[in-house]
Amino acid sequence: MDLSPLQSQLVNLKTQKNAVILAHYYQRPEIQQIADHVGDSLELSRKASESIAEILVFCGVHFMAETAKILNPNCKVLIPDLEAGCSLADSCAVLDFVQMRKSHPDHLAVSYINCSAEIKAHSDYICTSSNAVKIINSFPRDQKIIFAPDRNLGEYLIRETGREMVLWDGACAVHEAFSVQKLIELVQSYPSAKILAHPESKSEILKIAHFTGSTSAMIRYITESSADKFLIGTEAGILHQMKELAPEKTLIPIPTKEDTTCACSECAYMKVNTLQKVLQCLETESPEIILDPLVSSLALVPIRRMLQLS
Ligand code: 13P
Ligand code: SF4
Repeated sequence: MDLSPLQSQLVNLKTQKNAVILAHYYQRPEIQQIADHVGDSLELSRKASESIAEILVFCGVHFMAETAKILNPNCKVLIPDLEAGCSLADSCAVLDFVQMRKSHPDHLAVSYINCSAEIKAHSDYICTSSNAVKIINSFPRDQKIIFAPDRNLGEYLIRETGREMVLWDGACAVHEAFSVQKLIELVQSYPSAKILAHPESKSEILKIAHFTGSTSAMIRYITESSADKFLIGTEAGILHQMKELAPEKTLIPIPTKEDTTCACSECAYMKVNTLQKVLQCLETESPEIILDPLVSSLALVPIRRMLQLS
């Protein structure tokens, strides 16, 4: 693949500085192209914890870069733009979460990785979309559980595991926006297409999906499936890797409620990162993720439990 002058400059600087670039699948294609590793939340957490680089540039959103710093505290973790937040993480304020825990003293708290370091520090277990079912199933059947902050993933876990759980009422604005009506119209036009959805989507979508899974699991499903058409229910950035790995397959984004052009949802937070900002961040070695050492050490405990179980 030919690199643009900006991409070449970045790759040279990265080598000079012994830096590693991690990118989530929702990042812009030109960022994914120069990343050392592209992956889902779990894979990127593992890469961050194993890295011996002096600098990690995390091209994703803030909670992902925080998780990398918690797992590798001696490494300088940079994020191209501190504005790369997450509507789901923002829905869970720490004081309200602590209050919820106090109201349910005999419940374990399992939190989706899409939450702040403070919420992680107040949780017993962390999970991602790729290991959530396994983690919930690892507890005794009568274990009482609080699940935060994603209500849609929580409802999916209740259906999949048959467990009762108290759910935090948060959601991802991007995945909640898919239109069931427009999906049904698409199914009429492409009756043989397989429907893939991320578990952050609403239950109306998940109940008709042929496959529900993390971003990496969706990519694997497409490459391994004998089907040739797929309706994709997650953020648009994922189409880059899907097209790279399965260029012969037809990939159709599930439209959102507002949108009539059939373009897939985009996460505005993921898209604040640009190639120019990645370069600037590596040149200036900022913005850097700095965490309170106590919060960081408390948050490491439930993340480690997740990594051991998955
Ligand atoms: P995964 O890549 O772990 O499936 O998570 C998707 C997501 O919502 C990231 O914000
Ligand atoms: Fe957060 Fe949703 Fe964006 Fe993922 S897609 S970073 S959950 S707002």
